[in-house]
Amino acid sequence: MVSYKKLGLVNTKKMFAKAVKGGYAIPAFNFNTMEQMQAIIQAAVEAKSPVIMQVSKGARKYANPTILRYMAEGAVQYAKELGCKKPQIVLHLDHGDSFETCKSCIDSGFSSVMIDGSSLPFKENIKLTKKVVNYAHKHDVTVEAELGVLAGVEDEVQAEESHYTKPEEVIEFATKTGCDSLAISIGTSHGAYKFKPEQCTRDPKTGKLIPPPLAFDVLKAVEKKLPGFPIVLHGSSSVPQEHVDTINKFGGKLPDAVGIPEEQLRKAAKSAVCKINIDSDSRLAMTAAIRKHFAEHPEHFDPRQYLTPAREAMKQLYIHKIVKVLGSNNKL
Ligand code: G3H
Ligand code: 13P
Ligand code: ZN
Repeated sequence: MVSYKKLGLVNTKKMFAKAVKGGYAIPAFNFNTMEQMQAIIQAAVEAKSPVIMQVSKGARKYANPTILRYMAEGAVQYAKELGCKKPQIVLHLDHGDSFETCKSCIDSGFSSVMIDGSSLPFKENIKLTKKVVNYAHKHDVTVEAELGVLAGVEDEVQAEESHYTKPEEVIEFATKTGCDSLAISIGTSHGAYKFKPEQCTRDPKTGKLIPPPLAFDVLKAVEKKLPGFPIVLHGSSSVPQEHVDTINKFGGKLPDAVGIPEEQLRKAAKSAVCKINIDSDSRLAMTAAIRKHFAEHPEHFDPRQYLTPAREAMKQLYIHKIVKVLGSNNKL
């Protein structure tokens, strides 16, 4: 058993309380590689932001759970080396799919876990979430749960259509499970294709898709039922068109990729939404930089040559999110 406290990590409790009160949101960035980890930490230190580094099931499979855990421990030391005296870094399991996975993460030094029972019937979701909460709280680890289903792929969960969270269920769910935060469904979804073209309108000048608005009425109703309770938004990449255009210009094929407009995320961050999950945008920034680099330097084959601009592009993206969208800068 390794306690996250020994690794210099923190749980989400105080962080979320401050964010809800202060009207901003904590960035939750997924990481799979060393370059992503470095870019996340550089951005958080430069912008003086607390940060959640999250690990999905796919990341655990790709990079190996032990390596990711040591990378997070290294991240704390790296932040200090960059001049941050008291880094506020959470190591979080994203979309935990079983009690066993959550337990294994808690036992190996995670400070926060998500148990995603959103595909289960309501009562079973409560039962599984409560089991994880009971174990996690014994170790002062915080738990994110989910109610409502996002459209698209939720790791194991495939949902063609999103099922918005039912505000009438949230009090019973939060009370019976004791979860520390709740991910809700208000129209966001995972990946770089968040809406089908037929759900959008098209800008006649640019030909780009304009997505429909998020269901802020559902968010408001949830906030009314659970005043001050930390709310989480998954699937919150904006799919920056500059990166999509660069990818397409240099041989990629991402037609009609579309995300959540930043002004809607800014509005959400000012509410009880205190954790905003971003993964796809970092993938797009990295891929755009690498494709551009190869197009301009076909003779390069040293990974450091193309991963350096890729890391820098991700860092700039993270800083932009922190400062211009979530408002979590200058909070350390
Ligand atoms: O929730 C989805 C995250 O973007 C993680 O994606 O399962 O491909 O690592 P992944
Ligand atoms: P995006 O695909 O919109 O980046 O969402 C990431 C996410 O929700 C991770 O849990
Ligand atoms: Zn997610």
